[in-house]
Amino acid sequence: MKIISTIDELRDQLRGQLRTAFVPTMGNLHEGHLSLMRLARRHGDPVVASIFVNRLQFGPNEDFEKYPRTFEADVAKLEKEGVYVLFAPTEKDLYPEPQEYRVQPPDDLGGILEGHFRPGFFNGVCTVVTKLFSCVQPRVAVFGKKDYQQLMIVRNMARQFALPTEIIGAETFRADDGLALSSRNGYLSTAERAEAPFLYQTLQYVAERSRAGHADLVALERDAMERLAGHGWQPDYVSIRKRMNLQAPSREEYEAGAPLVVLAAAKLGATRLIDNLEI
Ligand code: PAJ
Repeated sequence: MKIISTIDELRDQLRGQLRTAFVPTMGNLHEGHLSLMRLARRHGDPVVASIFVNRLQFGPNEDFEKYPRTFEADVAKLEKEGVYVLFAPTEKDLYPEPQEYRVQPPDDLGGILEGHFRPGFFNGVCTVVTKLFSCVQPRVAVFGKKDYQQLMIVRNMARQFALPTEIIGAETFRADDGLALSSRNGYLSTAERAEAPFLYQTLQYVAERSRAGHADLVALERDAMERLAGHGWQPDYVSIRKRMNLQAPSREEYEAGAPLVVLAAAKLGATRLIDNLEI
């Protein structure tokens, strides 16, 4: 595996490649990330991964400084997966001057759910993904459904800008007890780690209730938030949305069986976890 940090070297290395499959990450790699590498390999060749902790997508009070950085271990994992190039730029490499030109998603998608609780988050994501795509020029790029809203925003962005990159969604990789793997799980204490699967259990509860039909979805969302709070969580949201555009379904749409997804974000102690489940 070639480890490349500058944009110029990366372009030299990938010149003429027409079938590149790309997996952008922020490192601290776990099996969820590695499952994306495997899916990428089925869709293209060479597989290119990136590791870059993108300051633009962190709020002033978020964990940019203490985000886990485990470069050596990450490299060993990617080597094993047969990744051809790891693009690991420094901030100076990717942002040699302040990144004043930004990619702003629409408010009705980028300003809801995660975007509501993390203002500017999806602007930071779209800006770095656009820049990484410009560097790597992939034919396909793989994103996890774990970050459901991110996947949808990137997919819509690629479509509206007619980017030559197809966006592929990968299923959420979970621990045996149901907890979605996340770099932030490493912040959890032993007791919190034992409690953490309750987030996914709550999503399953919501999914079962809403599948049973004719539920009052707003009351069901509130019920789920109260369950989380009763278990010591501080929920930001539990929201049942249409898969198509992440807007709330009307009663008619719900009763007509519109495909739905339930999304949640909640803090357990100091750690904020997100998860979702298609209904
Ligand atoms: P990061 O959180 O490192 O995630 C990188 C990719 O791995 C994302 O597409 C994410 O959805 C996926 N992923 C994380 N946990 C997963 C799991 N348990 N199962 C399946 N996929 C999982 O998401 C980002 O980085 C950044 O926002 C990025 C897109 C790299 C832009 O900076």
